[in-house]
Amino acid sequence: MQTQTLITAATSGIGAGIARRILTLSSESDHVFVNYGHRTEQAEAFRDSIEPLLQSRLSLIQADLSSYEGMMRLVDVVKKQSSQETFLDELILCAGISLKKAFSDYTFEEFNHVLEVNLSLPAFLVKELLPYMKEGGSILFIGSYAGKQAYSSSLVYGVSKSAVHFLTRSLVKETEPKQIRVNAIAPGFIQTPWHQGRSQESFERINRKIALHRFGQAEEIAEMAVSILRNGYMNGSVVDIHGGYDYF
Ligand SMILES: NC(=O)c1ccc[n+]([C@@H]2O[C@H](COP(=O)([O-])OP(=O)(O)OC[C@H]3O[C@@H](n4cnc5c(N)ncnc54)[C@H](OP(=O)(O)O)[C@@H]3O)[C@@H](O)[C@H]2O)c1
Repeated sequence: MQTQTLITAATSGIGAGIARRILTLSSESDHVFVNYGHRTEQAEAFRDSIEPLLQSRLSLIQADLSSYEGMMRLVDVVKKQSSQETFLDELILCAGISLKKAFSDYTFEEFNHVLEVNLSLPAFLVKELLPYMKEGGSILFIGSYAGKQAYSSSLVYGVSKSAVHFLTRSLVKETEPKQIRVNAIAPGFIQTPWHQGRSQESFERINRKIALHRFGQAEEIAEMAVSILRNGYMNGSVVDIHGGYDYF
């Protein structure tokens, strides 16, 4: 059976890890649409890093998911690439931002922008694509442990991810008629370009709070993400993965 998957923001970090794992598990008729926002060179480098045999099962789609127009562009491009009325089996929403500054320094516009990129646009992407998803499909949001536990430096980001977790549980009722499952994962600190620029002192301070004393790897997130995505009885769950953050 053919499986078609769309992953947003997936040419580096967690999304790229998930895309790579799905491609590794894919069969000849499967297809994976991988979205990115800006860096075509990085996207091509991601494609080049995939085993040549699997590259034909991958389409890169540039669409900036920080605006409604960009989100609708992604919907249009994906729709145009399929001739069937319903074609999408799996939708994974990875796009997210944090301005990495104190709440006291946020403007009203910045606050709303973070909510828009992390919450409103993923919600509307689901709304727009739901009619094109197959019965029995699966949706996975990338939430964050910062949406469950208030980190000192990420109030706005944490609020947006907390809402993503609630959206996950709420959507289950919307998707019930098509028996589409909706889940989220809530990662702690994961080693990706997201943390570029963090000082050695900051890495060490965070590692002291994690029982495993290290950041997670994108591959570890990908393994869990795909198993949740494809488990036929997982629905409405938000699953933590953080190496034991603040547990000791
Ligand atoms: N890393 C962590 O510790 C951690 C923990 C919990 C949750 N998360 C969540 O995981 C998700 C991915 O984070 P990551 O750590 O994997 O970050 P990352 O490595 O910085 O991810 C970058 C990816 O996002 C794409 N992207 C950036 N802006 C975009 C836009 N406007 N439209 C479409 N694509 C865009 C990038 O492509 P371009 O550069 O080409 O735009 C690239 O493919 C986020 O939702 C984040 O909140 C991360």
